[in-house]
Amino acid sequence: MKDDIDKKTPKKMGPDQTPRRLIVGISGASGVIYGIRMLEILRHTDIETHLVMSKSAELTLAYESDLKAKDVRDLASVNHVVSDIGASISSGSFPTMGMVIVPCSVRTMSDIACGVTSTLLSRAADVVLKERRRLVLGFRETPIHIGHLKTMAALTDMGAIIAPVVPAFYNRPQTIDDLVNHTVGRLLDLFGIDAKVVKRWKGGKPERVASDAARKE
Ligand SMILES: Cc1cc2nc3c(=O)[nH]c(=O)nc-3n(C[C@H](O)[C@H](O)[C@H](O)COP(=O)(O)O)c2cc1C
Repeated sequence: MKDDIDKKTPKKMGPDQTPRRLIVGISGASGVIYGIRMLEILRHTDIETHLVMSKSAELTLAYESDLKAKDVRDLASVNHVVSDIGASISSGSFPTMGMVIVPCSVRTMSDIACGVTSTLLSRAADVVLKERRRLVLGFRETPIHIGHLKTMAALTDMGAIIAPVVPAFYNRPQTIDDLVNHTVGRLLDLFGIDAKVVKRWKGGKPERVASDAARKE
C-alpha cells in the first residue's frame, strides 16, 4: 500500500512543536478490537495516525472480527506495509509523538526488546526508543513466565511503557465496548491525549458504603 504522507497537509503541531502524529501498531495477539478502537477514537481528534499491522494481526482480525484488513486500514490517516522497512516511520528523522502497539504479542514485544527489528512494526518501535520518544505496549498474554517478565523489565529499562490490556471495573462498565473504550482511553492518557472516553476516578466513598455508614449513625 502506498505511503501517501507527502500528499497530506502539514500536521498541526503540539505545544512543543511535535507533530500531532502517532504510530499505531497492531500485532497478532488476541484483542484486535483494541487497535481498531484506537484508530476509531483517534479519527475524532487532530492526530494523524500511521498504522502498521503484522501479518498475524490480519489472521487474528479474521478470527475475532467481521472486518477486513482494508476496513481497518481505512481508519488510519496513513498506512504502512509491515515489510516496507523503508517507510517514513522507519527513520528517526520523521518526527512523531511516539508509538502505541495494541494488542502487543509476546513475539512483537520480544522482537523489540532484542533489537532484531525484523519487520517495520518492530523497526518503528526501535526508532521510537532510540529517539527517546514514547513507546507504549498494550501487552496481551496470560499467564506469563519469567522470560516474559525479564523482557518487560528490559524494555522498561529502555524507556518503553508496558501497559497490559487488563480491564478496569471501578467505572461500572455495562458493555464490552465500555471495557475496550476505557482501556484504549487509558493508553492514550500516556500520550497526554484525552479522548473523553475514560470515566475518571473521582475518589470519595462508594455510594452504598456512604449510605450504609449514614444509616448506622
Ligand atoms: C486467534 C489467535 C490469538 C492469539 N493470541 C495471542 C495473544 O493473546 N498473545 C500472544 O502473544 N500471541 C497470541 N497469538 C499468537 C501470535 O499471533 C503469534 O505468536 C504470532 O507469531 C505473533 O506475530 P506478530 O507479533 O508478528 O503479530 C494468537 C494467535 C491467534 C491465531
